[in-house]
Amino acid sequence: MTYRTDHATDLDSTRIGDTVSVAGWVSRRRDHGGVAFIDVRDASGIVQVVADPASIPVVEDLRMEYCVSITGAVRERPEGTVNEELATGEIEIHADEVVVLSPSKTLPFMLDDRTEIEERTRLRYRYLDLRRPRMAENLRARSRVTATIRRTLDGMGFLEVETPTLIRSTPEGARDMLVPSRLRQGDFYALPQSPQLFKQLLMIGGVERYFQIARCYRDEDFRSDRQLEFTQLDLEGSFWTQAEVLDTVETVLKTAATEIRGGEMTEPFLRVTWQEAMDRFGSDKPDIRFGMEIVVLDDVFADTEFGVFSGALTSGGTVRGINAGPRELSRAQADVLVERAKELGAKGLVWMQVTDDGSLRSSVAKFLSYDEKTGLVSRLEAEPGHVLLIAADRWQTVSAVLGGLRLDLGRPQGHDDLAFLWVTDFPMFEVEDDGSRTFSHHPFTSPALIEDMVADPDTALSQAYDAVLNGVELGSGSIRIHDPAVQRQVFEVLGIDAETAERRFGWFLDALDYGTPPHGGFAFGIDRLAMVLQGEESIRDVIPFPKTQTGVDPMTEAPAEVDDTQLTELGIRLRPEVIAARAEDTETGEVSRGDV
Ligand code: AMO
Ligand code: AMP
Repeated sequence: MTYRTDHATDLDSTRIGDTVSVAGWVSRRRDHGGVAFIDVRDASGIVQVVADPASIPVVEDLRMEYCVSITGAVRERPEGTVNEELATGEIEIHADEVVVLSPSKTLPFMLDDRTEIEERTRLRYRYLDLRRPRMAENLRARSRVTATIRRTLDGMGFLEVETPTLIRSTPEGARDMLVPSRLRQGDFYALPQSPQLFKQLLMIGGVERYFQIARCYRDEDFRSDRQLEFTQLDLEGSFWTQAEVLDTVETVLKTAATEIRGGEMTEPFLRVTWQEAMDRFGSDKPDIRFGMEIVVLDDVFADTEFGVFSGALTSGGTVRGINAGPRELSRAQADVLVERAKELGAKGLVWMQVTDDGSLRSSVAKFLSYDEKTGLVSRLEAEPGHVLLIAADRWQTVSAVLGGLRLDLGRPQGHDDLAFLWVTDFPMFEVEDDGSRTFSHHPFTSPALIEDMVADPDTALSQAYDAVLNGVELGSGSIRIHDPAVQRQVFEVLGIDAETAERRFGWFLDALDYGTPPHGGFAFGIDRLAMVLQGEESIRDVIPFPKTQTGVDPMTEAPAEVDDTQLTELGIRLRPEVIAARAEDTETGEVSRGDV
């Protein structure tokens, strides 16, 4: 027998009279006037089958999600029963033969998209979840994204090269996932956080244009846009300037977005420097789909007698505000905003609402002069009903606070519109909470000017850039250091002494000594891109088999224990306190390990 001659959605009114076979799953079944109406779903969509249990007894057995093959004649649907919503809505198949290929147990949840199901249950039965139309569509869209990327880069002369995934640990800001070596007990491979150093070695190796759809691993805390393992479109080129990298990546992103969303995207992406992004939007990944930009008010309050503002200004800080537009602002709502500002790091927040007569309602209005109030209203282009929020502090704090409030108050739901943006000229280094200095992209990124870096690392800029889509950091890249002396200098600024640098990166510094071409590149998260293009809120919905927020796969129950013999082969023994904590977890059914 043949299982099928046609996919469900190949069938339309041009096929009336043909005898066809379809194969798929019973997605719905209704009984009506002695006949059964069965919606058969395959990877293409749904077609309706009409079957008479009197002549085909097996029809009585059909339950939800039975896997079937059905043969019959394509018929026009009787008048009044045409379904406009279905591609196959004008026809139905009158079954002559129904074969159950495999039955299904009762389902743990309904597979239509209307039912909200707890994510753990969906992941426990991911193979069923993937049959749901939305998930099936997400997988298809993702496949089209990667196919488009491959086609585009291939057309531009890029070479697709695979780099190893059992490597030596290299710092990229996250914790490494480690794999113990059996042949060299006590030594470990790291899984790559990205192919960074290997793609740089490919440039030294004479590959001038490289790309890879690369699996990366980072043992970091989960969020809705992070996973332990994820996929990057990684690329790199030699004799390539920043402008050329951005143009190429922009073309790739546009073709991918056009493939999924339709419509040519001809607008060039907006470009802002990191400083401008922080000043205007209070974020290095601004969502530019709405205004509510941050406005500097230092000059308005230069001579103020209001202590909070004058204190900030005299200690080198700044006073800035946003116009949150017309909205309700009860005392309780104002308190919520102040609390939120404090969570974001503020010491306080001044709120105001413009009243119908143009004056300001605020608990601090009495401390402000007439000129200050009118200056404020005009600078923030405020009109009656508008709510104004003002913070005074170090500029970093003010940016974080107003940037956060801006998102809370203005960010559109979903991803109906796409707003791409380049952020360039990132700082070279960041100061961590403990006061130590770290790289802001990765330690292989070139400083904008080496003299600036030597003079003052903390204000020096780098040749790093990010692509942002709807406030989501899609990807990052940079022009790399190709001079080993500069690379050594950067390690030094990072507090990695020469000996340590030699021990950890000697192999890479060696390579830089052999005629390294100037090079640069980029990597963007395919999961994140697919998430935004598909309008999903979580990358887990565009990954076929993701982990939960706590790093678990509820289906296979990974991570899981391994046999003692496996550990022995690897030369590994669990510490007694870990064994005790495991035993306790087995009893309580909870996982308390990790802090041990
Ligand atoms: P970066 O570390 O910025 O750069 O990563 C690039 C992009 O990868 C995606 N990404 C993630 N996606 C899901 N889960 C995660 N845990 C996760 N971490 C990162 C993001 C991010 O923007 N080697 C450099 C690139 C370069 O310089 O060429 C790098 O990996 O979308
Ligand atoms: P205080 O003098 O601390 O009672 O604050 C007076 C008002 O100013 C209150 O409404 C505070 O929320 C607000 N405020 C305090 N610190 C700041 C700040 N750094 N920026 C903006 N507003 C502040």
